[in-house]
Amino acid sequence: MKTLVVAQQKGGVGKTSSLVHLAFDFLERGLRVAVIDLDTQGNASFTLQEFGSGYLASQLFDQDGNAVRSAFAELPEGPLMRLIESDPVLANMEKRSLTDAAGAFKENIKALADCGFDVVLIDTAPALGVSLAAALYAADCVLSPIELEAYSIQGIKKMLTTIANVRKLNTKLKFLGMVPSKVDARNPRHVRHQDELQAAYPQLMIPAGIGLRSSIADALASGVPVWKIKKTAARKATQEVRALAAYVFEKMEIEQ
Ligand SMILES: Nc1ncnc2c1ncn2[C@@H]1O[C@H](COP(=O)(O)OP(=O)(O)OP(=O)(O)O)[C@@H](O)[C@H]1O
Ligand SMILES: [Mg+2]
Repeated sequence: MKTLVVAQQKGGVGKTSSLVHLAFDFLERGLRVAVIDLDTQGNASFTLQEFGSGYLASQLFDQDGNAVRSAFAELPEGPLMRLIESDPVLANMEKRSLTDAAGAFKENIKALADCGFDVVLIDTAPALGVSLAAALYAADCVLSPIELEAYSIQGIKKMLTTIANVRKLNTKLKFLGMVPSKVDARNPRHVRHQDELQAAYPQLMIPAGIGLRSSIADALASGVPVWKIKKTAARKATQEVRALAAYVFEKMEIEQ
């Protein structure tokens, strides 16, 4: 089983949009997908509500793996998706010690592997807090969507430092890179920022950006992937999102 965290301290940059589309795409690839929503905003939980398991994300911080093992003991065979949803108690995790929270979370991720999931996708809040750090300590991979705007780019160094610090302790953590999101190719500022980022971080820019496309927002509001939106404008968005999912799937080296 492989675990991916979607992380970026800046808000509204496409973390949840990327995560939800990866989840739908991986399900269609025949994987057994668990989604954990660590953001109290609960956006991923809203879009993926039909996959709700009744298990709450805050429970992953304060119980040993046995509760998870019994909750997901009798999963059916074949491809599936289960959502471990956001709940208000998650806010209390920020007061916990990192060692304590990260230890419990890691045990529960191991338990999800025992239950037969192939992949765990973790959505996080726009903050460098305890729950994000705990997720990074337990994960195999991390992906950071970015917007091509000054405020988003301003936060990149901090995010990269956080990831580098976690990698000293979690040496298996692989940074898949930054995905430019909500890109407007006709906006000269976006084009300039994309060029600047490409020059500054050639190894870290993922060659599969996502355009600014209202069909993506429509999809998230309707609880479906963008390829289920019946508008001509959704076609381009579908190609971009599928290309990102194919890239991430390959880099994660998921075994079924
Ligand atoms: N490619 C896109 N084109 C147009 N709108 C988008 C796109 N991706 C996301 N959005 C919209 O932008 C908003 C922010 O996106 P999203 O929720 O994915 O970001 P986020 O990084 O998860 O935000 P937060 O930090 O608040 O969790 C949402 O309203 C979403 O519908
Ligand atoms: Mg979000």
